[in-house]
Amino acid sequence: MVGTEAVVTSVRAAGAHDVVSLTVPDASPWVHARPGQLVAVPTDPATGRVLPEVHWLAGAHVDPVHGASVDLLLPVQRQTATGERVRLLGPLGRGFPAPSAPVPVLLVGHGGGAVPLRWLVEVLRDRGCPVHVLLSASDPDLHLDLVHLRRHARAVLLALPEDLPATLRRVLDDPAADPAVVYAAGPVPLLRGVAEEALRRGLPVRAAALDLDGPAVVCGTGLCGACDLLVHDDGRGPRQAGRAGRVLRPCLEGPVVPGEWLVEEPAR
Ligand code: FES
Repeated sequence: MVGTEAVVTSVRAAGAHDVVSLTVPDASPWVHARPGQLVAVPTDPATGRVLPEVHWLAGAHVDPVHGASVDLLLPVQRQTATGERVRLLGPLGRGFPAPSAPVPVLLVGHGGGAVPLRWLVEVLRDRGCPVHVLLSASDPDLHLDLVHLRRHARAVLLALPEDLPATLRRVLDDPAADPAVVYAAGPVPLLRGVAEEALRRGLPVRAAALDLDGPAVVCGTGLCGACDLLVHDDGRGPRQAGRAGRVLRPCLEGPVVPGEWLVEEPAR
């Protein structure tokens, strides 16, 4: 884990979030950063919070002339200001692997949990992948940075949470989308549902299996256990007694994991 002091250079409002860009003094840790990785921001215990803030990395750009910058999506209530100095630990964890060829892809996410997809859509488009994005949120203001997503994706579909399963099936079976790979980010029940539908159609799935948007306060560094997740990974690792699977700690072994690990029965 590498720590650095970053400086906020711009703050742009995007619904319930601010898109925050920060410059970092040393580019080397960020050269190979990927969507799906995390950063931790240590907090001052005097404020009553011991665990760090944990955020999805929403972008990292290394430029030989202008240096390195990192993007984060932070809650508006945090009132992040230009010029603020922020200590960052990261990038942490395993991010999304890009497909080896420029194939059509589908990204599925929910609310603020979809942050990793914001950067992923940009990376995939640069690799020549036609991208469809399907997002659910209970309130239109909770959709993430739609301007950015629409700039990079071929289509962005929005659904209410209760309509997401049917919309997902429709997109998976739509010849205009014809995804060859599915990426997902959001609450674990959503990830399991996406994995089931995609695997049933023979499509590989990768999911960012850490819910930073949920009620649990997480550490992002393997200490708190709040992210522990039951997975089914063909017997790799210790089995949990009496249950068909094992407990995975996504912030250490992920957060991006194969979709097969999230479903109990392999697709036939
Ligand atoms: S978030 Fe604390 S152990 Fe994973």
